[in-house]
Amino acid sequence: MLLLGAALATDPLAAGATAQCQNAKCGGVDISYPFAMNSSSCPMVPAFEVSCNDMGNGVYKPFVGDVELLSIDVQLGQVRVGNRISYSCYNKSSRQIDSNVWELTLTGTGYRFSDSANKFIVTGCRTLAYIADQDYVGKYMSGCVSVCRRGDLIGVIDGVCSEKGCCQTTIPKGLDYYQMWFEESMNTSGIYNGTPCS
Ligand SMILES: *[C@@H]1O[C@H](CO)[C@@H](O)[C@H](O)[C@H]1NC(C)=O
Ligand SMILES: *[C@@H]1O[C@H](CO)[C@@H](O)[C@H](O)[C@H]1NC(C)=O
Ligand SMILES: *[C@@H]1O[C@H](CO)[C@@H](O)[C@H](O)[C@H]1NC(C)=O
Repeated sequence: MLLLGAALATDPLAAGATAQCQNAKCGGVDISYPFAMNSSSCPMVPAFEVSCNDMGNGVYKPFVGDVELLSIDVQLGQVRVGNRISYSCYNKSSRQIDSNVWELTLTGTGYRFSDSANKFIVTGCRTLAYIADQDYVGKYMSGCVSVCRRGDLIGVIDGVCSEKGCCQTTIPKGLDYYQMWFEESMNTSGIYNGTPCS
C-alpha cells in the first residue's frame, strides 16, 4: 500500500464534481468531493476522476488509473492505494528463480508518491534490492540489503520492519515514478529451504 499526494492546486469548485456528485460511494469507499465518478450527470476533470469497476459477483472497487483506491483524505490531500509487491523466489522443483517486479508511473496524473507516508521495504535473508526513478534522465537511486542468520524468522512482523530479514529506505519528495529490481548476483543457494522468497 502506498499514499499518493494529490495535487489539489486547481480550484476544486471549478475543477471537481458538481453538488449532485458528492457523497458517492464505491465498494464501501467514500468518494469525497472533489473526487467523483464520471457520468453524464457528474462531469469530471481527469485529475479527480475515480472509476468504479465491476469486479464480478456484484463486487465493485474504485480505481484511479490502474491502482485500487483504498481511501481519500481530502484535508491531507492524499489518497491511499493498493500497490503490488515485487518478489523473487527460488523454485525448488524447477531450480529457477521466479520473479515479478513492478513499477508504477504517476507522471502526468497530478499525483506523486508521498515521501512522508511511504518507504521502500525489502525482506529476505540475502537480498539486495534497488529502487530508482527513470532510466537515463532520473536523479534518484537507492536500495537496501536485508540479511539474517540461518533459522531466524524474517520479514515484517506486526507491521514493523525489524533488524532481521528486513530493511527499509526513504523515498524522495516529489517522486512520480519508480522501478525496482533485485541484485541477481546475490548467491542464495543454501538458504532456500528456510527463506525461498525475497
Ligand atoms: C465523462 O462521462 C461523459 C459521459 O458519460 C463522457 O462524455 C466524458 O468524456 C467523460 N469524461 C471523462 C473525463 O472521462
Ligand atoms: C515451480 O516450477 C514448476 C515447474 O516449472 C511449476 O510447475 C510450479 O508451479 C512452480 N512452483 C511455484 C510455487 O511457482
Ligand atoms: C553459491 O554458493 C554455493 C555454496 O554455498 C557454491 O557452491 C556456488 O558455486 C555459488 N554459486 C555462485 C554462482 O557463486
